[in-house]
Amino acid sequence: MTSTAGVVVVGGGQAAFSVVSTLRASGYDAPVTVFAAEPHLPYQRPPLSKAAHTEPDGLRVELVPESFYRERNIDLRLGDHVVALDTAAATVVSRTGARVPYAHLVLATGARNRPLPVPGAELDGVHALRSVDDALTIGRALTTARDVVVVGGGFIGLELARVALTRGARVTVVELADRLLSRAVSRELELPLRERHEHAGVRVLTGTGVRALEGPGRVERVVTDREVLPADLVVYGIGAIPRDDLAREAGLAVDDGVVVDEQLRSVTDSRISAVGDCARHPHPNVEGLVRLESVQNAIDQGTLVGRRIAGSPASYESLPWFWSDQGDLKLQIAGLRSPSDEVRLVPGDSPERLAGYAFRDGLLVAVETLNWPAEHLAARRLLERRTPILAGDLAGPTLGALARARRAAEVRA
Ligand code: NAI
Repeated sequence: MTSTAGVVVVGGGQAAFSVVSTLRASGYDAPVTVFAAEPHLPYQRPPLSKAAHTEPDGLRVELVPESFYRERNIDLRLGDHVVALDTAAATVVSRTGARVPYAHLVLATGARNRPLPVPGAELDGVHALRSVDDALTIGRALTTARDVVVVGGGFIGLELARVALTRGARVTVVELADRLLSRAVSRELELPLRERHEHAGVRVLTGTGVRALEGPGRVERVVTDREVLPADLVVYGIGAIPRDDLAREAGLAVDDGVVVDEQLRSVTDSRISAVGDCARHPHPNVEGLVRLESVQNAIDQGTLVGRRIAGSPASYESLPWFWSDQGDLKLQIAGLRSPSDEVRLVPGDSPERLAGYAFRDGLLVAVETLNWPAEHLAARRLLERRTPILAGDLAGPTLGALARARRAAEVRA
């Protein structure tokens, strides 16, 4: 058991890895303990929904090998998870009974899948995707599945729909909202995105609820508001819920995520930080607080907290960005849009390229692109610098051209 109090990290995902690797890279030399509930070394999740994986060997997602942790004296406790926080004693208690004291505690507990709230959700052949084990289960099921019903037209649903299509299945996406990706993408960009999915062969039913999944032990049918769909595989991705139970039970402020300040410290107990999917935090681009579900956010928040604990504090101001590979569609988003922003769609220099510029009070706040990585990168560069970009600046030139022009002007000045 660790006796000197150092850093304890609860969670074994991308955000946790970012914290501990940054701590050691920044010269922090007190004990570092990581409780990772899954039996696997910390791994990347983005590849899980972008291909059909059937064998663990084909799914090399580990962030670093086990030796990385050993060489840096990071006490990685796989398959054990924290069941209680004793904030008065500054100690965590694990399922196996370990009690580990901390000087700093970092909650990197991530999120869980929202369960599908309909009869039959427990049938064989019905799966959600979060872990590497889920990815293998779904990948293997796709080797024989003919009729796949995807419930939820968000990131997971659309990525998996296109994977299933390439495996030769008939695919129907059933989405409750009146459009796809309503959490992440503007209505303007959703329309061409949907058309492209339908053109590729995905059947999309929006504004449609699932009433029940039926079958004799194994799923055979999905009963929706509109029709009954045959199904030998159902995958659902209907959103994520932050894992904030430990914090709530310990009396920390929680509001759909652990509430933290601009340095990502719990507003209730400054020895405790939260990073990644489970943190609700201030951000210069939003009024109030926000909770972001992205790899970029997990990495950047973990880095910020690792550096702060090692002695270099800063406020969290990273520009949020996201991407999703849905078959031949690469969707990329830079910045944070709100529903009231005005979005202007701009065609790229080839038919598959498209951008949506989102303006608030005449200023560019976010950019969504389809199959146009150069424009996405230009958007990130420009938005990160926080120099105002007016709607008039983009009446003609792309962001790429604007970025080049501004660089040239800086060189001349
Ligand atoms: P999501 O929030 O992106 O999408 C959920 C979708 O399900 C929404 O369109 C919602 O309207 C719909 N929905 C909700 N209840 C429903 C119901 N009862 N029936 C039908 N549709 C319903 O969440 P998703 O796709 O589950 O992803 C989970 C997590 O994984 C998120 O944190 C997401 O950011 C992350 N993820 C990110 C990816 C990326 O950034 N490329 C890829 C895959 C997952």
